[in-house]
Amino acid sequence: MLGTTGDDLVKALATSGGNLDPYPLYAQLHRLGEVTALTGLPYAAAVYSYRAVDEIMRDSSFEVHDALRLEPVTPDWRDHPVLVTLMNSMMFSNGDRHARMRGLFRKVFTPRRVQAMEPEIVKITAELLDRVAGLGADGSEVDYMAEFAYLLPARVVGRLLGLPDEDISWFRSQVDLINDWLDFRRKGSDVLAAADQAAAEITEYYLELITQRRKDPRADLISDLTQANDLSDLELAGNLLVLFNASFSTTIHLFGNALPLLLARPEIRSTPELMPAYVEEVLRYDTPAHVFIRVASTDTELLGVPLKEGQLVAVLTGAANRDPKRFAEPDRFDPARVDNQPISFGAGAHFCLGAALARTEAQLALPMVLEHFPELALGSEPVRTDQLILRGYKSLPIVVGR
Ligand code: HEM
Repeated sequence: MLGTTGDDLVKALATSGGNLDPYPLYAQLHRLGEVTALTGLPYAAAVYSYRAVDEIMRDSSFEVHDALRLEPVTPDWRDHPVLVTLMNSMMFSNGDRHARMRGLFRKVFTPRRVQAMEPEIVKITAELLDRVAGLGADGSEVDYMAEFAYLLPARVVGRLLGLPDEDISWFRSQVDLINDWLDFRRKGSDVLAAADQAAAEITEYYLELITQRRKDPRADLISDLTQANDLSDLELAGNLLVLFNASFSTTIHLFGNALPLLLARPEIRSTPELMPAYVEEVLRYDTPAHVFIRVASTDTELLGVPLKEGQLVAVLTGAANRDPKRFAEPDRFDPARVDNQPISFGAGAHFCLGAALARTEAQLALPMVLEHFPELALGSEPVRTDQLILRGYKSLPIVVGR
């Protein structure tokens, strides 16, 4: 399109068409540079080259949205349970407060703990696949998203935290209400009210569990967190909500986005040892989360675009993963890429706390899916999420064969 500006392209990204297929828009953005000023949007700029996305996420003069920033725009935020809960978490904190919260979670959510989860991940995967086999035994379609891609990461993190399995399905609907509000295109008062109700209920649930585990500790993360007295109960509940939410609402799309890509490459069935490289390439080629937000903490400049303190920047990780200056032929799925380091888990102080867990889950479970169902095929038309923040499938019907 002649005369298309970065501004036009980012606006196009925020439409259903842009969410459906953002990749041609990213390719056009990359032809224009690394960062673009925006008008008429809540964001003053968008940054999309790999180098610039990496830089802004590591630069402490750009912060995540926190209570201090929320106060002037939403002075009544304390009346909204969803805002109170989120603002009590590491994802919405900066500086020392962020370091204190993250420090505690890093102490208990260790690489060793993730490694120790491996047998459990294999066991849960096998159980879920047996169930899928039962559901599809008569040749009928099974929704891979609901029956597998959601349940696996949700059960894994549920076991890690110490949540009873039977509570997991209740969480999905509650967390979806919060995610609907977090999505930058839909923020009506009804959406906020629903998110408030959900956050209030989840917080109450966690506060009860925290009290129980403090009295009667078990071998789970919540018990360990309550033993260290570094965080208030409300901070613990806020962080548990964010951790649980962040863990499955992203990993569900890693599993979903991976499946059609793997089915299109049957060679992976005979070389399961290559799965880690395939997973990394899925994370790059079709990442679950495309947009993150930063706030300028001071008057500054971002690769030539001036920004005033408090202005918002949209950080397009999905675009950075297709940057031709970082990845040769970025629109080609190529698990054999050398030095393939997608920026899907972010960078800097807020780098994803669960990156190792998400990778482990995918590397262990995806070969099991293919092995369990040698004739697995996609079924009727899938339904996509109409979001860029979390991009993938709402439903992905599959036929598993006899
Ligand atoms: C494929 C799956 C996942 C993707 C693509 C993903 C992506 C990300 C990204 C990009 C961030 C940085 C946000 C920012 O800088 O503003 C982040 C943060 C975070 N993620 Fe993940 N994530 C995934 C899975 C998980 C899992 C499995 C967990 C927990 C078990 C988790 C927990 C968190 C938490 C707690 C944060 C906030 C860290 C902080 O603010 O210091 N994520 N994630």
